[in-house]
Order: sequence, then structure tokens, then C-alpha cells
Amino acid sequence: MLETYALSAVALGALAITLPLAKKRLELSLAKHPSLTGHARIARRVASWLPGYRYDEPHFFASDGAPERVVAQRRAALARLAQLFQQRYARSLALSAEAADGLPDLQFTASYRVPFQYSALLRQHLKLASFMQSAEGVTLTDLDGNVFHDLTGSYGVNLFGVDFYKACIAEGSALVQDLGPVLGSYHPVVARNVARLKAISGLDAVSFHMSGTEAVMQAVRLARYHTRRTHLVRFCGAYHGWWDDVQPGPGNPAMPQHTYTLREMHDDTLRVLRKRRDIACVLVNPLQALHPNTGAPGDSALVDSSRRAHFDREAYADWLRRLRQVCSERGIVLIFDEVFVGFRLAPGGAQDYFGVRADLVTYGKTLGGGLPVGVVCGRRDLMKRFRDERPADICFARGTFNSHPYVMGAMSAFLDRLERPEVQALYDGLDERWNRRALTLNRRLKEAGLPVRVANLSTLWTVCYTEPSRHNWMLQFYLRKNGLALSWVGSGRLIFSLNYGDEDFATVMDKFVAAAREMQADGWWWSAPGLSNRAIRRRILGELLRHRF
Ligand SMILES: Cc1ncc(COP(=O)(O)O)c(C=O)c1O
Repeated sequence: MLETYALSAVALGALAITLPLAKKRLELSLAKHPSLTGHARIARRVASWLPGYRYDEPHFFASDGAPERVVAQRRAALARLAQLFQQRYARSLALSAEAADGLPDLQFTASYRVPFQYSALLRQHLKLASFMQSAEGVTLTDLDGNVFHDLTGSYGVNLFGVDFYKACIAEGSALVQDLGPVLGSYHPVVARNVARLKAISGLDAVSFHMSGTEAVMQAVRLARYHTRRTHLVRFCGAYHGWWDDVQPGPGNPAMPQHTYTLREMHDDTLRVLRKRRDIACVLVNPLQALHPNTGAPGDSALVDSSRRAHFDREAYADWLRRLRQVCSERGIVLIFDEVFVGFRLAPGGAQDYFGVRADLVTYGKTLGGGLPVGVVCGRRDLMKRFRDERPADICFARGTFNSHPYVMGAMSAFLDRLERPEVQALYDGLDERWNRRALTLNRRLKEAGLPVRVANLSTLWTVCYTEPSRHNWMLQFYLRKNGLALSWVGSGRLIFSLNYGDEDFATVMDKFVAAAREMQADGWWWSAPGLSNRAIRRRILGELLRHRF
């Protein structure tokens, strides 16, 4: 009898311990986005399981079951494009081919421009050049003298136009040339940059790094140091550079142990933040406001037409306000990663644009005035890297090239220009201007009966597709043919610089519509009646299973 009581007491005790733990675990699971992107571990397993197969010619043209007439149309179109590219981009292509062997980066980008099933055959026929000779205004010129309108935005660095950055680099170099590349001690321009960044960010202190990735590493390290907690929270799909802890999914051979990937704009996430005691910081990339909880929209993942994007400024601002409140209540460090959007949405960055203040803010890209940089701005207490009472307990962060005089010079020239009235004026009515442009392009696409639309967050655009199709990724080649330069991710990310005038934009619009018309005329958007995105994905799953087993 006594024994039974004792056993029951032990069982109850065990339950009392495990139940709250199980509840916490369940809450964490509920706060994960139901997609694969929200489940890093499973996504990694799926990625390692995916069989590598490639379409032969018949499948390449008829993967959607297109009839022979359409297949012939597509085949002829690809041959025409291939011939045209070979002639028109001859020198640029020759150098790309020569360099590719010693440049794995080129091999990677060339392979991941389109879904993997199509990639090998496409590369065999349709090679793309990766070299440019010069840049001016809103255009790039390749080695063969072809001029493209630049929609790459240099990964977001190019906010004010390439000439602006050429001037920043020249002026910055002249400013620091007496000291030259001396490292360790600072050029006086550093002090001026610190003062101005404090004013822009509304924060107390600044540290300089060599890339956005490094700035994010440092911000997270500081948050962990000061809170004495282990975990960082990032949101599903958000990019924060290529450091291990912010990349828990495919692409990173290591599995970070101290990262929670949670669902953005969701109450379940707030509940986790309210309850857990191991969370040091929350990382926000405001670019995600255009497509919350989905990854960067690259064309290599464009297997159907389910890409969606829509920006709701008020809804996102409301989310940030709620996040701010929970972080403040729980002593969690709120980090805005503005490496991409900083200075693009407003001169004061995303903090000003959404009206919410962060504890730490990272900047990069455009702030270097055209040179590589990463910056952390933060509250004084959080930026401190040692404890007076524990001299050996430090938060180490150095870097040979941090505060490099030439980078600091170009940054100073950037910040000088930012204050000029004509540059400030570029921000007047910025969103209205770019929303109007997106609307106009969408109207034209609709009137032309084309299954393509654009969505935008100010000058950051993405292309969406209205009819189920397996060949949307072909659009990037028609856009290039029509003189629009895209980055390697293709139609998923178009980045405009603010120096695009109405006339430049009208030209881009004409080229865009012409490209989509050509693609339509060449049969790539033929679709079997009743085809759906779900049916496309089912078909691909069937192929995967067949190739795997
Ligand atoms: C939001 C964000 N954070 C960090 C990074 C990493 O910056 P970098 O490429 O300079 O290392 C990027 C780069 O695109 C970014 O968009």
C-alpha cells in the first residue's frame, strides 16, 4: 500500500516537471510556420534527400504536358534565343566561360538560375554572361557594348545611382589619402561618421565591420553577452547574411543549436517570447514585410506560380509595435537588421519608416558609399564589450579592416550627400511614386493579357505570375534579351535606384511588357485546361519519388 502511494507520488512529481516542459515545447512548435521554411531541421533532411535529376529535351519542353505544336514553338524559341545571345554577347560570354572554371561562385550562380530539372539543358543552350564593362546613370554596358537598364541594384547597395557612388569613392579616397591604408589608429573622419550615425539611428554608440554578415554576428553576440541568454529568434524566410547561426536551413552544413526560427506576424510567436527565458534577441529584417515567412524569391524555386507578395505598411508597423512591447517587457534585445532596407525606405531607415525603435540596428550595403561595410548602432549599455567588475569577461569583436580609412571616407561622402536638399527631396512622395509605377506596369500587363504582375515595397520589387505554369523562370531570359539586367536570382528581386526618372521607368516598362509578350508568343505560358499549382507540385513530387526509389 505504502509502495503504491510512493509510486504515485513519484509519477505525479514527474508529471509536474514534464508537463510544463511539454507545454513549452508545444508552444514553440505552434510558433513555427507550417511551411518547410519554418522547419529548418526537416527542410535540411528534405534537401539532402532530393534526388538530382535533369530533364532531357522532350521533358524540358513538355514537362507540363504541352502538345507537339507548342513544344515545337518553344524549341524554336530557345534555339533563336541561344543564337541571338551567342552573337550579341560574344565577348562577355567568352570571358565568362574562361573564368568559370576558376570561379566556383560563377558555377554556382549559373547552375541555380532556374529549377534544377531544367538547369543543365538550359545552360547548354542559353549561356549568360557575368561581366560588365561600365555603368552610368541607370544603365550597365557589357563587354560587347550592349546597354542594359540596371534592375540588379548591386544587391541593394545602389540606392542613389552608380554615379553617386563613384563620386563618394573618389571624394572619400581624396579625403583620407594623406593617411592612406593605415589601420589600428583612426582617421578623424571616423569620429564624424560616428556622430552622424548616432543622430540617424537615434542610438548611443556605433561599431564598424566589413560586411553586413559581420555586423549581424556582432549584434547577436552583444545581445547574448548582455542578457546572458543563449538563443536568437529569427523569422521564417528572413535573410541575415551567411553566418551559421542565422542560416539554420539548407545551405549551411552545420545545424545551429541556439536559433529559433519562428513565424513572423503571429501571436504564437509573441507567446513564446513572453514565456521562454533563454531568448537573448529577436532579429527583424524589414524587407520581409513584402513576403512575410517566405524566403528570398529566387527563380530557382519558381517551380509553379504560387509566389505571392504584398506589402501592408500599417499591418507590419503594428506587428513591430507589438514585438517591441514584448521585447521590452521580457528584456529581449530587439535588433532591426537594416542592412538591406536602411536608407532605402526613409533617410532614418526602417525605424523611422515604421515608427518603431530597436535596441540595436545593423546597417551595411549602401552606407559604405560603394565600398564594403557593416555597421552596428546600439544603446550604450548593449554596445559595451567588457564588464568593469569582471575584467576577463569580455565580448570580443575586432577585425583587421574595421574602420578602414577608405571605407570611412566613402561613408562620410555618402552621409554628406544624404543631407543635401536634392537628395532629401528624393524621399518626398517616394512610396507614392513607386506604387504608382507598379500600378501602371500592372495595368499594362493586364491590358496586354499577360499572366505577370509585380508587387513592391517601395523600390524593391518582385514578379508574380497569375496563371499556373512550369516555365515562368524563362521570363528572366526574355527580360535580359530586351535589355534589362537582373541579378542571378532572376525575376524574384528587382531593385531600383532612386535616380530612375519617369522616362527611364517608361523605357523599363516598355521592355518588360515586350519581354512578356515575346515569352507568351513563344508558347511558354501555354497551360493545360484546369492546371493548378497544386497539380504541378504533385507532378513534381511524383518525379522526385520515381527518381529516388
Ligand atoms: C538583411 C541583411 N542582413 C545581412 C546581410 C549580409 O550582408 P553582407 O552580404 O554584406 O554580408 C544581407 C545581405 O543581403 C541582408 O540583406
